Amino acid sequence: MRKHIVAGNWKMNNGLIQTETLIAELKKQEKTSDAEVMIAPTFTNLWHAFQSTKQSSIEVVAQNMHFAKNGAYTGEISAGMLKSIGIQTVILGHSERRAYFNETDESLAQKVDTAIENDMRVIFCFGEELSDRKAGNEEAVVENQIKNALFHLGADAFKNIVLAYEPVWAIGTGETATPEQAQDMHAFIRKTLAGKYGNDVGDSVSILYGGSVKPNNAKEIFSKPDVDGGLIGGASLKAEDFFAIVNAF
Ligand code: 13P
Repeated sequence: MRKHIVAGNWKMNNGLIQTETLIAELKKQEKTSDAEVMIAPTFTNLWHAFQSTKQSSIEVVAQNMHFAKNGAYTGEISAGMLKSIGIQTVILGHSERRAYFNETDESLAQKVDTAIENDMRVIFCFGEELSDRKAGNEEAVVENQIKNALFHLGADAFKNIVLAYEPVWAIGTGETATPEQAQDMHAFIRKTLAGKYGNDVGDSVSILYGGSVKPNNAKEIFSKPDVDGGLIGGASLKAEDFFAIVNAF
């Protein structure tokens, strides 16, 4: 069976005190679902968050990393640095990284390689813009994003890859994809994976949906057969809301 995963992407929110407070509140929540729970605080709080969640079932993950091992890349963070503080999972390819920091399919392919070489798990994000959907191009766009960044990998690498479909028009807008739109795209993604790597890979990779997932719509979205969880932005900043989503499975 595929893993259910609910990951909170905190983005550029929460200083140290707020991180401590939110983690304390998260640890008080009761988990009634089988979903794996992850949170992605900002870099400066990863070590502290990792230490504070050690005795819990919450995994702390990074929001990004560089592809190089080390060197003259001012302001960047390497896979080795993340691993040195216990971080095993990294989000790559978020649309905000693509839009504001010029991340491309090519640079993302390099980052994915680095993560896999370092035996890290990747939550790989992609998704179409509103204009793509209006033009009926959403499947072609998503297929290209996946092919360009991932299809050089061997089948084995997919043991360490989680996909996150995040339509850009649904991120932070309050406008979520309908459960049917999410299901249709997730089924298409699975078919695309199976076409390249066979049904074993297609059927085993968890595909998360992200974009305005809230306590009041999570259950319906997660009820779809090809939706294996969610990547949650705004609603992950409130412990009760986040756990209402975790427990929507
Ligand atoms: P929202 O849940 O705020 O729409 O953000 C989704 C997202 O970008 C998660 O990575």
